[in-house]
Amino acid sequence: MTRVLVTGVRGKTGVALAELLAARPDVEVLGGSSDPSRVSTAGVRPTAFSWDDPAGWDAAIAGLDAVYVVRPDRADAPELIGALVTRVAPTTRLVLLSEQDADYVGPDGWAIRAERAVRESGRPWTVLRPSWFMQVFTDPRFYGGTVAETGMLPFSSGGATVAWIDARDIAAVAERALLDEQHAGQVYELTGPEALTLPRTAELLARATGRPVVHRETTIEDELTGTEGFIRELTALTFERVHAGSFATVTDAVQRVTGRAPGSLEAFLTRSF
Ligand SMILES: NC(=O)c1ccc[n+]([C@@H]2O[C@H](COP(=O)([O-])OP(=O)(O)OC[C@H]3O[C@@H](n4cnc5c(N)ncnc54)[C@H](OP(=O)(O)O)[C@@H]3O)[C@@H](O)[C@H]2O)c1
Repeated sequence: MTRVLVTGVRGKTGVALAELLAARPDVEVLGGSSDPSRVSTAGVRPTAFSWDDPAGWDAAIAGLDAVYVVRPDRADAPELIGALVTRVAPTTRLVLLSEQDADYVGPDGWAIRAERAVRESGRPWTVLRPSWFMQVFTDPRFYGGTVAETGMLPFSSGGATVAWIDARDIAAVAERALLDEQHAGQVYELTGPEALTLPRTAELLARATGRPVVHRETTIEDELTGTEGFIRELTALTFERVHAGSFATVTDAVQRVTGRAPGSLEAFLTRSF
């Protein structure tokens, strides 16, 4: 039996990954959540795991063969991830969810330091660097609650394209990296099959929802409304990277790792609405 901890098991990639792993009779899946009472994926054992409670980590990581680490978007993420990975057994495989073009801000950037914590852990590791998730169009915390109602997709793109990826494809890559040692030492830049402009993205949303949707180009400053501190800095940097084309590069990594092409935004939206 292979024992895997999926942190962020209720999140966009965590749910899909837990479902894939739970379907395997030879894998025991621990679903890590800061609120384990809300973990409901069939075949997954709810497991208390909070970045705010390092004292509770030992119970979650005992006897693990692999752990999926969803990077917490907070300033101390590199230190927290570093502390966690040094506490897992030396043979435990680590798969880190990072982001596409994480080197953008240079060698001492926050995202790179989070990756370095895993890469320099002495454990077998794989780093996943996905583009923007298609699930932002269904997640009520992002565009999911509003696009169909308002007919508006406000997004600061600077005219650049985004190679949206289905979180289920990220999960499929993670599944393989967690279970197969041949992915150790790899950094996978993961994208969907095509890079789309925001006006084209809005067209696809309109078609799927059956309602008019248009893209409204916003400023980066607009995107920062209601944010503060580290999240404000991170959001500004993220949209700066969108403008610079950091999420526009299309890769074949999903196909190479899983043996099948990544799903398109059109297929995702048709399925979701
Ligand atoms: N969204 C994108 O388009 C995108 C693109 C590229 C990279 N990323 C990166 O991927 C990572 C995950 O983003 P996401 O959008 O997938 O987030 P998400 O769906 O909101 O998932 C975040 C997870 O973190 C867990 N969490 C919250 N507080 C926690 C705590 N104190 N301790 C432990 N777990 C906690 C949540 O689960 P519980 O509430 O159950 O604990 C949730 O499952 C981030 O680092 C993000 O930057 C995102």
